[in-house]
Amino acid sequence: TRVRQKLVVGNWKMHGSLEANGGLLKAVAAGAGALQPVQLAVCAPFPYLAQCQSLLAGSPVQWGAQDVSAEARGAFTGEVAASMLAEFGCQFVIVGHSERRTYHAEQDSVIATKALRALEHGVTPIVCVGETLAQREAGQTEQVVGRQLQALLDALSVEQLGRIVVAYEPVWAIGTGKTASSAQAQDVHAYLRGLVASRDAGVAQRMQILYGGSVKPESAGELFGMPDIDGGLIGGASLKAEDFLAIGAAG
Ligand code: G3P
Repeated sequence: TRVRQKLVVGNWKMHGSLEANGGLLKAVAAGAGALQPVQLAVCAPFPYLAQCQSLLAGSPVQWGAQDVSAEARGAFTGEVAASMLAEFGCQFVIVGHSERRTYHAEQDSVIATKALRALEHGVTPIVCVGETLAQREAGQTEQVVGRQLQALLDALSVEQLGRIVVAYEPVWAIGTGKTASSAQAQDVHAYLRGLVASRDAGVAQRMQILYGGSVKPESAGELFGMPDIDGGLIGGASLKAEDFLAIGAAG
């Protein structure tokens, strides 16, 4: 018996339309039941959260957003609060994706605060960490992902840590077609779990750590078969119901 349930989350990024999403969500909802106990979820752009709620409520598929404000409420034009995500039934929110870190200069400390905001409203943050190619080649992978995770370990209580999901996304594998080998990914996942264990062994044992970066139906089985890989965060392949469900079936 598995300690941790497998979780496969689609990150649609800035893709979709009411029409395209409608077909995708219905097909994913129709196929998800057969994949249980693997849990499926989709993280959609903010304007489509209501559509996710109306099409997925009552289905086995959960949904969420791709970012959340570090502020609770107030004069923050353009920001979206965790309380708002909760109102639209979001189970998850991605925080600290490398695209946010790179294009919006998000630092570890603000990412940790975003995770806290989500937890305050019962929304599970999926906290992304990952090294660039230059960092990997310089032998700095553990140092980089360790620093990124440490910000969470510093900011969250043990109880709160027990309610987050971590996603390891090597930046060089995102959208490039280059997947980390299952052994490369497993090494980093085990390292991350070890860091969490130094805070609390039980939390580390129960924490879902997802892999993201060019996961395809062909590569998912081997990745998800590794002892510390508890599922995936799927970009491009989550936009096609057939591929997304096939990745879920590998869980
Ligand atoms: O968050 C998922 C992601 O960054 C991976 O994207 O397109 O390489 O699967 P992709």
